[in-house]
Amino acid sequence: MNGKIGIVTGGGDCPGLNAVIRAVAKAAAMRGWETLGIIGGYEGLLEPRQFRLLDYNALSGLLVRGGTILGTANRGKFSAKTGHGEGRQLPKELFEATREGMDALGLSALVSIGGDGSLSIALQMHEHGIPIVGVPKTIDNDLDGTLMTFGFDSAVACATDALDRLHTTAESHNRVMVLEVMGRYAGWIALYAGVAGGADVILIPEIPFAYDSICAKIHEREAKGKKFTLVVAAEGAREKNHGFVTAGAQEANREARLGGIGAVVTAELEKRTGKEARCCVLGHLQRGGSPTTFDRVLCSMFGAVAVELIAADDFGKMVAFTGQQVGSVLIADAVGRLKTVSPEGSLTRTARALGISLGD
Ligand code: F6P
Repeated sequence: MNGKIGIVTGGGDCPGLNAVIRAVAKAAAMRGWETLGIIGGYEGLLEPRQFRLLDYNALSGLLVRGGTILGTANRGKFSAKTGHGEGRQLPKELFEATREGMDALGLSALVSIGGDGSLSIALQMHEHGIPIVGVPKTIDNDLDGTLMTFGFDSAVACATDALDRLHTTAESHNRVMVLEVMGRYAGWIALYAGVAGGADVILIPEIPFAYDSICAKIHEREAKGKKFTLVVAAEGAREKNHGFVTAGAQEANREARLGGIGAVVTAELEKRTGKEARCCVLGHLQRGGSPTTFDRVLCSMFGAVAVELIAADDFGKMVAFTGQQVGSVLIADAVGRLKTVSPEGSLTRTARALGISLGD
């Protein structure tokens, strides 16, 4: 180690990115190393290089600050992901240019903070000999190899708060309220928030739904005197034998933008039950703001362990949460396949046990 490392944030932002940046820079400083923050994702390493020194003063206030002070990108030269399990191999010239950028800045290692897309690129970098470690980020919690990604707990807290608010207005008006939350291929946010927020119906991508089943739940509640129903739907939820509901055409080298399932479900339930229904799309509120207490602790552990990995020259690894402690796994074992909700898993069974409909 020559005592200088770089941090890159990539993909969609989420609460806790700055807390990880802070933890990495602090743990590095404890070893006498300097940390450079690369601006705008991996592209900041290419000409014209963009970076900032993350010295002691630069870290003030970062623990609680939402977003990323380094900026992030889920498009451009380093965009490799186009869909679930679909990626592309980047040209070797990009890795050579990355290496040149690192040499020019005097960096001996990189910390890549990202989800499946950014960490798939980190894996390709590792395979091209670039010393790199990963930190798992995504509100969707769909990265394999770790029980939890940072940002997830904060997103769930936001969605649960939304459900609490929708609960009172749904009850006042005897309405069906549908909350659309993020969760492209994995329904973790919908499932956790749905259970925590007392939803009556939870729709997730892993369990395609049938309107008859949702309507049966609404009628069952009516029969018991409950004139309102709370539905939470992941953006990737879909009716049996139907595809995703998307928001606009797919751009080249990017994943299709999802969105709209909440409105579709709301209209159909209104038509079928004759009850007034309203839709609320939580959208990027889930990605903004301060991380929760849990995420601040997780981010601090992730950052500290990332620096330990670098100190041990243990590259090609991603820090991972096992439920007991933070350790590491091979990046290769974490990317390319997503961690989705098991229809027979503990929380899905809990939901059913409590009488929550999963729409199937
Ligand atoms: O991957 C996280 C996520 O929040 C997905 O749930 C969602 O589909 C996507 O990001 C939206 O990203 P953006 O609007 O930034 O393109």
